[in-house]
Amino acid sequence: MKKDGRSRINWIFENFVTFLRKCTFRVLSVGPIPEHIAYIMDGNRRYAKKQNMIEGTGHRVGFLALMSMLKYCYEMGVRYVTIYAFSIDNFKRCPEEVQSLMDLMQEKIEGLMEEESIVNRYGVRVHFLGDLKLLSEPVRLAAERAMVVTANNSKAVLSICVAYNSTNEIVHAVEKACEEKWEEISLLNASGSGYGLIGLECIEKHERENLIKLIDIEKHMYVSVAPDPDILIRTSGETRLSNFLLWQSAYCYLYSTPVLWPEIGFRHLLWAILNFQRNHFYLEKKRKQL
Ligand code: FPP
Ligand code: MG
Repeated sequence: MKKDGRSRINWIFENFVTFLRKCTFRVLSVGPIPEHIAYIMDGNRRYAKKQNMIEGTGHRVGFLALMSMLKYCYEMGVRYVTIYAFSIDNFKRCPEEVQSLMDLMQEKIEGLMEEESIVNRYGVRVHFLGDLKLLSEPVRLAAERAMVVTANNSKAVLSICVAYNSTNEIVHAVEKACEEKWEEISLLNASGSGYGLIGLECIEKHERENLIKLIDIEKHMYVSVAPDPDILIRTSGETRLSNFLLWQSAYCYLYSTPVLWPEIGFRHLLWAILNFQRNHFYLEKKRKQL
């Protein structure tokens, strides 16, 4: 198709910007590239207020910012991205706002399933993590469908935390680990090994105390689909974790920027990665308990 003058200039400019970005990634990749970046996308309502936009528009612009961030991460070779899209506490917001966020979520999840969407372009498998039964049925069904539709994408992983918070995740994982142990013990009991429920007292004290191990809990964490994050980026100047990835962020580099989420851009990601690279050696030492 023939391009008119203005769109031709736009096309050249966009390609030039992409080229510059790729050159920057090349330079960055001399240092360690994070395998997993997590985002707390805060400040969407404040952005709408600041721009005199109608309520809810901030979250829509926030979704566009998210698409750009994902594009930069995948271009750079970051394999895992995790986002805090809706916390369990967000259900306490006024019903109209919760409904509007759910509608937005449903619309955008359906968009993600389209052929030309970012997840299909970059071969991204999508996981929805959290207490999904708390979601309205249309959103839950859309989320479940998106997980099925993208299940064969294998180049990268996008974890979307909805109806999520860390304390809920930990309680859920502990419950699951206990259920699993209970079944194991009942089975042993049924097989007549004498090592079962009735004979729980017969188990060596040491074994009883170590009945549930760290690995038994960790495998039931919602976020076990990805390694622990290397960088956690939070916008809007807040320095709290807000009950997000508490278990997984022990050795993660925390980066807080004063920009509101819809304003986040390439330079903020670049700065976060440079800071991560500067601290990488120290963080790795801590991770390995040296
Ligand atoms: C926090 O900003 C952000 C949210 C509660 C939701 C963000 C959701 C999106 C950008 C859409 C995601 C959709 C998909 C399908 C992944 P805030 O509302 O707390 O704003 P404030 O801090 O200014 O009050
Ligand atoms: Mg907020």
